[in-house]
Amino acid sequence: MNKSYITTPIYYVNASPHLGHAHTTVMADILKRARQMQGVDVWLTTGTDEHGQKNQEAAEKSGLTTQQYLDRRSAEFQALFDRLGVDYDYFVRTTRPQHKEGVQHFEKILNDKGLIIQKPYRGLYCTGCEQFKKESDLTPDGRCPDHPTLEIEWTDEINYFLQIEPYRDALRAYIDAHPDWITPDIYANGVRAMLEEPLEDLCISRPKSRVALGVEIPFDDAYVTYVWFDALINYITNVGWPDPQYREWWPHCEHLIGKDIVKTHCIYWPIMLMAADVEQPYRISVHGHWVGAGGQKMSKTLGNVVDPIEVIDKYGASALRFYLARHMRAGSDSQISLDLLHQTYTSELANKFGNLLMRCLVFCGTHFNGAVPEVAELHPDEAKLVDAISRDIAAALKDLELGGIPAATLSLVQATGTLNDAITALAPWTRIKNPDERARVASIMYALLECLRVVAEGFSPFIPEASAKALKMLGAPAPASGADAQEPAKRRLAGGTPFGSIEPLFPRVDQ
Ligand code: MSP
Repeated sequence: MNKSYITTPIYYVNASPHLGHAHTTVMADILKRARQMQGVDVWLTTGTDEHGQKNQEAAEKSGLTTQQYLDRRSAEFQALFDRLGVDYDYFVRTTRPQHKEGVQHFEKILNDKGLIIQKPYRGLYCTGCEQFKKESDLTPDGRCPDHPTLEIEWTDEINYFLQIEPYRDALRAYIDAHPDWITPDIYANGVRAMLEEPLEDLCISRPKSRVALGVEIPFDDAYVTYVWFDALINYITNVGWPDPQYREWWPHCEHLIGKDIVKTHCIYWPIMLMAADVEQPYRISVHGHWVGAGGQKMSKTLGNVVDPIEVIDKYGASALRFYLARHMRAGSDSQISLDLLHQTYTSELANKFGNLLMRCLVFCGTHFNGAVPEVAELHPDEAKLVDAISRDIAAALKDLELGGIPAATLSLVQATGTLNDAITALAPWTRIKNPDERARVASIMYALLECLRVVAEGFSPFIPEASAKALKMLGAPAPASGADAQEPAKRRLAGGTPFGSIEPLFPRVDQ
């Protein structure tokens, strides 16, 4: 891989951003940073989905003009991602003219090919999902399983539709021919199962009389585009489509999505692309959902909502990013609460990594003038330790994929554990009392500091802020990237380099 275009879903602005939104965008940032370390050229987009009925209703309730409302909410998402240290290259807003023109162009192509029909639609609609529902999609009491507090609406209106059933076989064949296209397998299998049944026509419009917030249908000004149809197209308009330059990034595109939006991304979107003769994205990577401790869905009523801003204020962005990276399980829901987050922060970041770093820096502050010890040659035991840690961390970060993020963070924690065991076994504080052992203590401390540097660099995609601080304290050179980063055996701390100013990396937080 030498190029990677990573996308997140674009988020509805009907309410403030929540933990789930933070999750996908942070995972995208982690993949971006890890891939950049390997010399991959990366383009990352995230942003807001600003059309449709539920955004319109939220804007109406806000007392602001629609534009003011959208600007304010979109800025909230951008501010959250900025605080989380997300290095996005483009922040999408679907209300921008360039995107809207792209959507209309897409619709014209389909209409000119005769693929769009007009017909009445009668059916059930969930504004939470912004999707039509079948009776069989609902709970026994007639509610949407994902939005049980919302009323399902009865809709009866004339709309435009894309016939998608004619593409079902082609999509099945594509999935069979590209077994890694949708990952993990559990979701690919779910998509295969959905494709066993004939596909109903996809409604692509809403009458303006009901929903005005949307992209006008280019061939009928009484209608706007259905929000999902418009939103999905962001993935190509962001990179310039229909200008042929979009091909610079598009074939390298990986969509990161939560399990709630598999059908739209793995069925509707690929068929839309087939219909418009645009090639498929490179990959669709799916993650499970965060739920509260005990497996309950987070809700204000249960009081188990984890607010990302609150967590960042109290523990810092690194603590939240680390928890999200460390504990998302592949293919199923994962639990989060302030207690769980506190435990991970304290036991893995503060006590394991932060403490060890501090102990080593303070020890060398006292015995080696506050600088990296100068060592002609490492003792074989320490040379072995440095090589093993360097190899493990390089392996953990190599070709990182969404599903591999938790295991990579576990490797970092395990490496930190190994270093804590090493310092206990090597006992530099005992040896330093014997002047004959000074050279060995220098070897031990150099090795520990160099390993801490390797681990701190390994942490950089996950917790860039804390990693940069640790590297600065260690007096480390700028992190290696590209070919250099593929060379784990290289020792990069220079003996005699003074440490940066020392401060607690993960300060103690009272629960
Ligand atoms: N606007 C659509 C997406 C259009 S993409 C072309 C949408 N928006 S959303 O605001 O509802 O965001 C859904 C996404 O937020 C999920 O797919 C997932 O990425 C993230 N999450 C929402 N809740 C989540 C959890 N509880 N846990 C983890 N991520 C979740 O759907």
